[in-house]
Amino acid sequence: MTSSKVALVTGANQGIGYALVEELARRWREEDVVLLTGRDPSRVREAAARVGGRARVEGRRLDVTDAGAIAKLADELGERHGGVDVVISNAGARITPDRPQEEQIDEFVAVANGGAHAMLRSFGPVLRAGGRLIVVASSLGTLGHLDERVHPLFDDLSLEGVEALTESWRTAVHQGTAQQRGWPQWINIPSKVLQVAAVRAVARERRDADLRDGTLVAAVCPGLVDTEASRPWFSDFSRAWTPAQAAERLLDFVLAEPVDPAMYGELVRTGTVLPWRGRPYVPAHRGNGSEDRLGE
Ligand SMILES: NC(=O)c1ccc[n+]([C@@H]2O[C@H](COP(=O)([O-])OP(=O)(O)OC[C@H]3O[C@@H](n4cnc5c(N)ncnc54)[C@H](OP(=O)(O)O)[C@@H]3O)[C@@H](O)[C@H]2O)c1
Repeated sequence: MTSSKVALVTGANQGIGYALVEELARRWREEDVVLLTGRDPSRVREAAARVGGRARVEGRRLDVTDAGAIAKLADELGERHGGVDVVISNAGARITPDRPQEEQIDEFVAVANGGAHAMLRSFGPVLRAGGRLIVVASSLGTLGHLDERVHPLFDDLSLEGVEALTESWRTAVHQGTAQQRGWPQWINIPSKVLQVAAVRAVARERRDADLRDGTLVAAVCPGLVDTEASRPWFSDFSRAWTPAQAAERLLDFVLAEPVDPAMYGELVRTGTVLPWRGRPYVPAHRGNGSEDRLGE
């Protein structure tokens, strides 16, 4: 084992993920390593070569829909470095308003939910004491965004239970029965709530041990960020964050010491917990309804 730190970010060849790598590389030391991962080898290579900062940035191909590849990389990093300090599951597939949701759900869920499940499952065991296991979700990720009819489905779910619920919702969307069962039409909302449910399931199992050694498992909201993914959903970006600003704010929380037990296992936005139950969060500075479409 070495004393240098190791981080890994998924979906990091552009957007928020790239900015997270760049900010980590800026904050960390020369002997530390940040793995910039993405699904396309040439985009990954080009992005890794572009990053400035002090820490060493290594590009690695990682398609997060491939759970086997995730498990293999976790094992490799466990053997090579003795574990990982910061793991950020950030990859997201794009959806656009101009195509039916059922045509877009398979890839969207495979990346956002399947990817997060596999990252939590494989990287939890190789997280170093004092490490950070983070899923980038959004403010849409609280139960309050869903109809009360589906709330009981989320009671005390294990990670396997979250996976099964994700699959039953995805199937209902294809069968055209999701809305009559209480799921909202826009697939981004259940996907985010299920991401946060997965984080909560893993956090429930590890909480006591993690808090003893200063380890954090949490979901985070980046805020509205001006990226290719958010562009189709908004016309006004005057109040959006740049990816670099979003990464700075996210890492202020992620790297903060000591870990605040009140934030552990929760969905956190700018250092504040968005309660799992109760009224959904709506950004105060926007009133045109656009926030309901992307969810910062
Ligand atoms: N932008 C916002 O306002 C906002 C708000 C709330 C939450 N978020 C969340 O923040 C995260 C990043 O969003 P973003 O705005 O930065 O989006 P983005 O610019 O579209 O970046 C998404 C990244 O995910 C990668 N990706 C897609 N499929 C993948 C796969 N199968 N395996 C590995 N990587 C894959 C993309 O790679 P390619 O370049 O190869 O496509 C890209 O690097 C997402 O989870 C999103 O839901 C964003």
